[in-house]
Amino acid sequence: MRQLIAGNWKMNGLGADSVALARAIAAGATGITADLLVCPAALHLSGVVQAIRGSVVAIGGQDCHQDQQGAHTGDISAPMLRDAGAAWVILGHSERRQNHGETDELVREKTLAAVAAGLTPIVCVGETNDQRSGGQETEAVGWQIAGSLPKPFIGVIAYEPIWAIGTGRTATEDDVLDMHSFIREELIRQFGDAGHGIRILYGGSVKPNNAAGLLAVPNVGGALVGGASLNAEDFLAIARAAIAESGQGG
Ligand code: 13P
Repeated sequence: MRQLIAGNWKMNGLGADSVALARAIAAGATGITADLLVCPAALHLSGVVQAIRGSVVAIGGQDCHQDQQGAHTGDISAPMLRDAGAAWVILGHSERRQNHGETDELVREKTLAAVAAGLTPIVCVGETNDQRSGGQETEAVGWQIAGSLPKPFIGVIAYEPIWAIGTGRTATEDDVLDMHSFIREELIRQFGDAGHGIRILYGGSVKPNNAAGLLAVPNVGGALVGGASLNAEDFLAIARAAIAESGQGG
């Protein structure tokens, strides 16, 4: 399966910045063997859709509501994202879990809503610094997987250790190998054979200088990139480091 290189632009840039970034990524995307995805702020979706039209770059949202519609001031539904041109959505990012009190149960409901609307969800999991220093990282991630994924699960997992997000402190290749193997085993335990084919992305301070090493680790199906995805050259350099074809979900 091809690796997926996804850019999470978070709450950055104004409309014109997002359009310029999307254009630059689309222009440089030819010849890249990975699947490419950019996730701008919801407000910028339509501009980015225009900017990447005709290119291989796909578009995603950064969150959606668990209901298809209704009285939810300020929220955005999965069908609205789909209607705006998104094919993907990031769900349960640690910034949503921490800043908006999102629970595993809520993430599971959002995942169901996304799939029902025709979006492919990228469900994020990852331990805190305290959990890792206490030796509880696999237990924490195991609980998140058990609670956040509906059965069957059609989508992608992103392992993003919270201590590595935006810190410049990347997980070592050994950390990633251990955690991605654990996640693969959990997916197979929960979903049987289908668990082999679920892509598991790594996220947390992925940069051009560490991407090749991280993307070569077994069971890594791609990367979810924050800061470095705001620079087209850096994002494309990460995408060029992707492995052409990996055996299973990566
Ligand atoms: P950074 O790449 O900036 O560490 O962010 C990772 C992330 O949160 C992607 O969702």
